[in-house]
Amino acid sequence: MKFDLERARAQTPGCTERIHFNNCGAGLMPTPVIDALKAHIDLEARIGGYEAARAAGEQVQEGYSAIARLLNCRPTEVAIVENATRGWDMAFYAMRFEAGDRILTCSAEYGSNYIAYLQVARKTGAVIETIPDDSRGTVDVQALGKMIDDRVKLISITHVPTNGGLVNPAAEIGKVAREHGIPYLLDACQSVGQMPLDVDALNVDMLSATSRKYLRGPRGMGCLYVREALISQLEPPLLDNHAATWISPDEYRVVDDARRFENWECNVAAKIAFGVAVNYALEWGIDAIEARITALSRMLRQRLGSLEAVQLRDLGARQCGIISFTVADLAPVRVVEGLKERGINLSVSRATSTQINMHRRGLESVVRVGLHYYNSEDEVARFMDALEEVIGRG
Ligand SMILES: Cc1ncc(COP(=O)(O)O)c(C=O)c1O
Repeated sequence: MKFDLERARAQTPGCTERIHFNNCGAGLMPTPVIDALKAHIDLEARIGGYEAARAAGEQVQEGYSAIARLLNCRPTEVAIVENATRGWDMAFYAMRFEAGDRILTCSAEYGSNYIAYLQVARKTGAVIETIPDDSRGTVDVQALGKMIDDRVKLISITHVPTNGGLVNPAAEIGKVAREHGIPYLLDACQSVGQMPLDVDALNVDMLSATSRKYLRGPRGMGCLYVREALISQLEPPLLDNHAATWISPDEYRVVDDARRFENWECNVAAKIAFGVAVNYALEWGIDAIEARITALSRMLRQRLGSLEAVQLRDLGARQCGIISFTVADLAPVRVVEGLKERGINLSVSRATSTQINMHRRGLESVVRVGLHYYNSEDEVARFMDALEEVIGRG
């Protein structure tokens, strides 16, 4: 079925302002999401914040149901938090490590996650090990299999890294984790909303995701999935009156479901709008979204590949809507500035976000494009013209 690009663009007000190729930074919100956000803020202004939250109880609950449909899990396995990193942290820091315990991760692991490993490794004596990559730069699942022993206490992977189009074989990694009964944490921040994610098919135990990127929800929202069987084993590093109940002067009880990973105070308007964004993505269909993004990014990669000065930097056999490249004799930041001056949004991804992967490849930074389904073929052509102009001017 043909993708209804006209409708997608008509429902994306930001399309008229600029060429937005920074969806891996933050996607443009569609009209239903913007409307939901504004409507709740208006309600808060009219009747009061607590009163508005009570009145919108069903809409808030719908967010959990929507995320559960998106990930194929139960609403009680979902925590909605202020960003993906905080969700990831609440799961990771709830785990207990001892000296000599092994944490296995990937070379393209996200900076915030790796900083957390380093902190825990310093405190506990646990060791961090990077699973080797295959010749295409993808996690080598066979090599992972050979690394397993009873000291491996966590396998923790970034599905799609922040610095390019690589899609790691999350399901195959999950199979190894499942076979050996090792907890598996997946950072799905850049993959959620651009490809199907089914926690059972992926065999994940914990998964973090953000609202603002390919799901096109508001900023300052994220979620954490934790498999029901694991929830009771994970006492979060931070608790409040929402995550736990103070049952007597010197006793508290942590709540049973994934709400234990949440805070009481939150941005209710953004929480509602996050749910609307998930339902909006589901209405388009995640398979249809993936097909459209894959076709468009293939087109852009082909065109970029035809420019002599451009070197594509995406790794992996399977590649998604994030496209990374460098330009000979022109720093990524200059490329991005030049395109910004021409009304095109994109970003620079720096080594500090994916240190191991970038260091191995001798890269300090790359130009990063994140295409979404509402981007058009015409925008790709205009982007290429503008890029050639920027390259020509040096
Ligand atoms: C791979 C990856 N993980 C995690 C994050 C952090 O997400 P958030 O800003 O919602 O915490 C990002 C953000 O760019 C990311 O690219």
